[in-house]
Amino acid sequence: MNIETSIYPATEDTIKKAGEVIVRGGLVAFPTETVYGLGADATSEEAVASIFAAKERPSFNPLIVHVPDMDAAKELVEFTPAAEKLAATFWPGALTLVLPRKKDASLSLLVSAGLDTVAVRMPNHPIATRLLRAAGKPIAAPSANKSGQISPTLAAHVAQSLPGKVDMIVDGGPCAVGLESTVVDACGDQVGFLRPGGISIEQLENVVGPLIFPDDAPDAPKSPGMLTSHYAPTLPMRLNADQIEEGEILLGFGKCEKASLNLSPKGNLEEAAANLFAMMRDLDQVGYKRMAVSPIPKEGLGLAINDRLKRAAAPR
Ligand code: TXA
Ligand code: MG
Repeated sequence: MNIETSIYPATEDTIKKAGEVIVRGGLVAFPTETVYGLGADATSEEAVASIFAAKERPSFNPLIVHVPDMDAAKELVEFTPAAEKLAATFWPGALTLVLPRKKDASLSLLVSAGLDTVAVRMPNHPIATRLLRAAGKPIAAPSANKSGQISPTLAAHVAQSLPGKVDMIVDGGPCAVGLESTVVDACGDQVGFLRPGGISIEQLENVVGPLIFPDDAPDAPKSPGMLTSHYAPTLPMRLNADQIEEGEILLGFGKCEKASLNLSPKGNLEEAAANLFAMMRDLDQVGYKRMAVSPIPKEGLGLAINDRLKRAAAPR
């Protein structure tokens, strides 16, 4: 396997084939509503190990396990009352729940990197759901990009980022949300916030009340994957740029005449999230000294957008 990485349009037939590739222990890149995932059979140690190898992920960070429905999730993890409420409200969708791993769960140990918890998510994408059903297995999937690079929101991004490393790329067009899922720890009574993403803090607090943030509680659970430098384009980045400086190319937001590309001319955060990774890739061109980015409001989805930009701009 892994000879050529071809992009297949998502038909009944290719989804069935992709399910077979997963069952055989291969790697399939597939669309979700957040970003494209690099999927493998979550029950197989070798298949999960091959995800880390393909991404050249430096350490064994735990992965998100994708399921098609609640029954499949409940075979893997123990649901707390908070998790039940969150799943009832946001699943299928851009929310990942970290929950206690069931003792008899048929899951690779590497998938949770030795922790006694598992991150689970029911994606809101018809192709992802059909692939999960075709494989008949939970699918472990990080974003389908080389470690440290920008996450893919198009099938072509996967082919660019992981050439020859994936057995099959299933094309489902652009990802509607465009940012990874929000990750929360729902093991206890009070829910811990681990990673900003497609579901906002306000939305979560409306359902389960105040969250615990890692900064408020030094001993609060952390997400091992929150590396400081991530989502990095080749060009250095300058954030909160009101003006464009010599040698820069500008990624704009809102009214912004000098922008080469604009995340959302009308200043809409959903639209900006959906465009973020693709526009960062498009502007990452030779001949410029730096990429400047307009200020993005720090509310709602803007929190996750600013989180990704901060990591993209971090020293490498
Ligand atoms: O939208 C998404 O979440 C995408 C799509 C493909 O579903 N997936 C994704 O996976 O972003 P990944 O591997 O890039 O991010 C998983 C995050 C990491 O920050 C990891 O540390 C955290 O979830 N995580 C996974 N299992 C965990 C666990 N048991 N406890 C705490 N954090 C966990
Ligand atoms: Mg990632």
